[in-house]
Amino acid sequence: MTTDDNNKKAVAVVTGSSSGIGYETSLLLAKNGFFSYATMRSLDKSNKIINLKQNEKLPLEVLRLDVTDDKSVKEAIKKIVNERGTIDVLVNNAGYALVGPLEELSIQEFKEQFETNVFGVIRVIKEILPIMRKQRHGIIVNISSVAGRTGFPLTSAYVSSKFALEGLSESIAYEIEQFGIKVILIEPGVIKTNFDRNLGLGTGVSTNPTSTTNGRDSPYADITKKRIAGFKPRFENGLPPIEVAKVILRAITSTSKNVPPDSRYLVGEDAFKLMEIRKSKSDKEFRRLVMEGVLK
Ligand SMILES: NC(=O)c1ccc[n+]([C@@H]2O[C@H](COP(=O)([O-])OP(=O)(O)OC[C@H]3O[C@@H](n4cnc5c(N)ncnc54)[C@H](OP(=O)(O)O)[C@@H]3O)[C@@H](O)[C@H]2O)c1
Repeated sequence: MTTDDNNKKAVAVVTGSSSGIGYETSLLLAKNGFFSYATMRSLDKSNKIINLKQNEKLPLEVLRLDVTDDKSVKEAIKKIVNERGTIDVLVNNAGYALVGPLEELSIQEFKEQFETNVFGVIRVIKEILPIMRKQRHGIIVNISSVAGRTGFPLTSAYVSSKFALEGLSESIAYEIEQFGIKVILIEPGVIKTNFDRNLGLGTGVSTNPTSTTNGRDSPYADITKKRIAGFKPRFENGLPPIEVAKVILRAITSTSKNVPPDSRYLVGEDAFKLMEIRKSKSDKEFRRLVMEGVLK
């Protein structure tokens, strides 16, 4: 691949590319006609993707970008624009889930959850919009979740951050459509990534109904324990992250096939099934099914 060939490629920026969905998306885009910027907050995790880039001669660069840090976001975007002159696709993927009942989560922990999953997305979009607006095209892909469509117990912080992302995406779509910029929401079900290992359990969360050792007991201990126990088997059976990457690729390349992208893409049989049930049941019945399914 010559430098000239690479200069003609559409440029994609993916946040949270150290693992999982971001990692697979950065690679898949590089293999399918994009110049891909795999951004991550710690370059210590970049060896694998750099080796692949070198061995397969992929049009891909790794760049440090921490979505919670203004300076890091500004520097990364500036560098990309200096190098390539354009940003055609932004994939806002970086995120994690905080676990625990609201009463046992601190305001600080809630704020940190929103700092990454919501303000992180806003920060990167704000930096990229002037570029896309001037070039009069661009696609912003926001990685939401089925948890952006319906609530789940013991993850109110995560769920509310993804609901916020959905509202944000729907609203800005109206504002920026006039500049040729599209907004796409990706809503995966359970995906087998590092997500479950990176789950943040609130520091005040306890699984002891009555504790004599740490002095903390919890009226939520029973459901907290059940919820946590359910994560492992659920994630072990999750879909591989490449399946999410494929949906992202299909969505962002649909315009080149003269099909405008949809606003939302569910990913995974579990996600489709859940949304079907959500539509066909009353709130009360749906809540009962979720309680039985998630907290059994
Ligand atoms: N896995 C699922 O079942 C699932 C389902 C629906 C939606 N999602 C969404 O998919 C997205 C990706 O998650 P994943 O499943 O691929 O999990 P993952 O393997 O844990 O990847 C999460 C990525 O986000 C990064 N990240 C976290 N905080 C960051 C920050 N401040 N700045 C930059 N990057 C940061 C992580 O970096 P570090 O390696 O440095 O921590 C990692 O690269 C998330 O938004 C998640 O909510 C996941």
